[in-house]
This record gives sequence, structure tokens and C-alpha cells, in this order.
Amino acid sequence: MRFDILTLFPEIFDSFLGESLLKKGIDSGKIEVLRWNIRDWSTSKHHKVDDRPYGGGPGMVIKPDVVVDCVEAVQRQAPPGKLVLLTPAGQRLTQQSVEQLATYDRLLLLCGRYEGFDDRIRLELEPWEISVGDFICNGGEVPAMMIIETVMRLIPGVLGDEMSAREDSFSEPGWVEYPQYTRPPEFRGRTVPGVLLRGNHQEIAAWRRDQARRRSTDRQQQSRNESAGESSAET
Ligand SMILES: C[S@@+](CC[C@H](N)C(=O)[O-])C[C@H]1O[C@@H](n2cnc3c(N)ncnc32)[C@H](O)[C@@H]1O
Repeated sequence: MRFDILTLFPEIFDSFLGESLLKKGIDSGKIEVLRWNIRDWSTSKHHKVDDRPYGGGPGMVIKPDVVVDCVEAVQRQAPPGKLVLLTPAGQRLTQQSVEQLATYDRLLLLCGRYEGFDDRIRLELEPWEISVGDFICNGGEVPAMMIIETVMRLIPGVLGDEMSAREDSFSEPGWVEYPQYTRPPEFRGRTVPGVLLRGNHQEIAAWRRDQARRRSTDRQQQSRNESAGESSAET
């Protein structure tokens, strides 16, 4: 699978691409990641990519001509991929949308900065707009890393058998994994549940199912309480 990252700060990805599972995926040829500096498509004397917002207000807005030229040129480098625009106003990233993203052979990840993009970029390019959560990052680079990290786990052969993504949390909506333990069997007076030490695989599987169900239910209840708190605070 190929990722094209379109950014004003390509160096942010240096160590991210050179470590751990992602590096292995790249070295094995299962993942390809290319970085493109949006600024290279600026035709102005000082390679300007942003300008003041019409109507006033703080900060700078990324210009439409530079970004659209950049995206169109990058698309032409290979069979066209799915364009993803990272924006707080987009569809919230979930494991289900990650699964959909993983069906593409090529993703272009368009990272904003400053006050974000001129809205005509969205209208012209009709990207899939994705938000990684209801909070504001300084730029789209960390959200793009989140997309790469989550999608790469679903590419066949990238995780070893010992790290199957099948049982991870959110492999079903709302479901979270059972608690995990390793050595030592006792840490500061806290012991590992006895069932995990006895080696009865059926008993362990039943315990894990039960723990996952409890944790998932508790978490769902917690989100319901949070939503109820938010709506009562609004009234
Ligand atoms: C400082 S933010 C701009 C925020 C914008 N003024 C607003 O209020 O929505 C700069 C860039 O970071 C990225 N970004 C910030 N938060 C994000 C989030 N939650 N999800 C996806 N991208 C985000 C976007 O690419 C955005 O254009």
C-alpha cells in the first residue's frame, strides 16, 4: 500500500518512518511512504503558501491554487489514490473508517497548518474529510501519522502472527480488549489473576471474554454518562 503525505513540514516524519513496525513494513516493500512539500508548488517569489483570511480574523489560511496544483501533480505520479483531507471538521476516525481506508491501494494525506485550508480546496477536490477527534492539533501531520499507524496494522503481513489485529479493541464497534498481564506474578502486592497462571485454555478464554464484556459495558456506560453530562450542561 502506498501513502503520499502532502505537508509543509515533511521532516516531521523522519523518525516516525524509521522505527519499529512501520520501518519493517517499508523495508519489506509492503508499505511505501512518499512525502511531498506543498511549498514546492508555490509560484510566488518567496514560496508563499498562505495569506490573511478574507473578512479578517487571526492567523493565516492556506491558499487554494498551491494546494490544488500540488494534489493534482502528486496524483499523476501513480494510479490515482483516495485523497484524505485532515480537518477537525471531518468525519471522526474510528476503527470502521480505518477498515474502509485500508481497502485503498493508495492514500494521499493532505495536512493543514495555521488556520487551515481555503474552503475551495475541499469543494474542488472533494476529498474524504477526516478528523482524529474533537480537539485541535497544530497541524495535520500527527493526524496523518495516526492514519498510517492504524491502516498499516490491517495490511496483510505487516503485523506478525503473534500480533494479530483481529482481537484488538474496536475490531467490533464498542468492544475493548480484556486486561493483559506479564511477569512478575506479583507487583507491589498486586497479583495476576489465578486463572491466567493455571494454564487451562478454555477457562482462560472464558475469563477473557467475560472481562472484555465487562470493560466494554463499563466504557459504553461512561460515554453515555459523558454525553448526558454534556447535553445537561448545554440546557
Ligand atoms: C490549527 S489547525 C486549524 C484549526 C482550524 N482553525 C479550526 O478551528 O478548525 C491546523 C491544521 O491541523 C490539522 N488538524 C488539527 N486538528 C485536527 C484534528 N482533530 N483532526 C484532523 N486534523 C486536524 C488540520 O489539517 C488543520 O488544517
